[in-house]
Amino acid sequence: MDVVALRAGIPALQQCIYLNCGTYGPLPTVVADELVYWYRRIEAEGSYAYDVTDELLEQYEAARRAAAALIHADEDEITLTRNVSEGADIIANGMTWHPGDEVILTEEEHPGGAGPWLNLAQRQGIVIKLLPITHDRDEFLERLERLITSRTRLVYVSHVSCISGIRLPVREIAEISHRKGTLIMVDGAHSVGQFPVDVHALDCDFYTTCGHKWLSGPQGTGFLYIRRELLPEIAPTFVGWDSVEHYDLQHQIFEPRPDARRFEFSTRPWPLYPALRVAIERVQKLDPAEIERTIRPMVQHVEEALSEIPDVSIMSPRNPAMSSGLVAFTHTIPGEVKKKLWEEHRILVGANDERHWIRLSVNAYVLPEELDYFVDVLRQLATNGTNHNT
Ligand SMILES: Cc1ncc(COP(=O)(O)O)c(C=O)c1O
Repeated sequence: MDVVALRAGIPALQQCIYLNCGTYGPLPTVVADELVYWYRRIEAEGSYAYDVTDELLEQYEAARRAAAALIHADEDEITLTRNVSEGADIIANGMTWHPGDEVILTEEEHPGGAGPWLNLAQRQGIVIKLLPITHDRDEFLERLERLITSRTRLVYVSHVSCISGIRLPVREIAEISHRKGTLIMVDGAHSVGQFPVDVHALDCDFYTTCGHKWLSGPQGTGFLYIRRELLPEIAPTFVGWDSVEHYDLQHQIFEPRPDARRFEFSTRPWPLYPALRVAIERVQKLDPAEIERTIRPMVQHVEEALSEIPDVSIMSPRNPAMSSGLVAFTHTIPGEVKKKLWEEHRILVGANDERHWIRLSVNAYVLPEELDYFVDVLRQLATNGTNHNT
């Protein structure tokens, strides 16, 4: 991979050491240019000028095609969304529930992914069961198998956990879930853009992801995969003029589109989606498998270096099959360290005081020397007494 060229296309990387695409990825110039292009066209020609509207709608569909190609879905199985959470909300609120129905979540789910199910528990009496994470793959799968009962309707797992960075064996989880008669939904906030994802090969039922993290797309973009056979079972919660296949007010007919577009219900920030397409195509050109190969040795390198700092305890699995570009370790004052890293060294990381945790997102544009510099700074902070690790 030509990392020099890759970095030259992302101006923010010249300003700082960017180790937090797990929150938001840095915006590449090609993506920003696409956004500006469309807003300038709208400014110059008018929002509803026919050329602009027609081209934007064509571009919107091109974004759907790009998203489908990236995760090996079919176009009619893709809903363009605003974020990961919206995808989970569409499924949670679109299914029919009965009190006592069970949903299994891993204990490392983000509030964006877990919230829609907790909301259902409060409003419709479904039961949430937590699946503990372990770095032992077989033990994890056995725990899952034991937790599923005849009342379990759905298993919700992050492909890559936002907390420990563990990469879960989604294909095996899907196999167990289906064998035991339950659906599986995957939260792909940290997978898409980091390594190849093939939703058909994984055999999951629903897969939600976003443009604004590992894909370095515009904020407020995402997409949801829904297995074609399940589309009729997911009722649209929000509807509008754009979700309709057949509308006849006189006869009170309002028939949603048959495909995944039924959840895209009305006017949207159209220019974001051509920019999402550009972001996706950029990652496709880099090749997700090559991105993964570039990230892996850097993760091993930084974990080795971190493990030499007294008291640093790495939370991410060291086993390559379950590790990812998210590297997390414990710290007693993460917020203070995060602030110092930024203010004094222009290093961006994720941190959470409640969890006593610092997290690095190692994407392909990161340089090994940036990671070395980060580790040196952390070591200095430890020597100066800023690091009182647990
Ligand atoms: C695993 C996971 N799921 C969901 C979300 C929420 O993402 P969004 O803002 O796109 O809804 C995040 C955000 O960090 C996340 O890490």
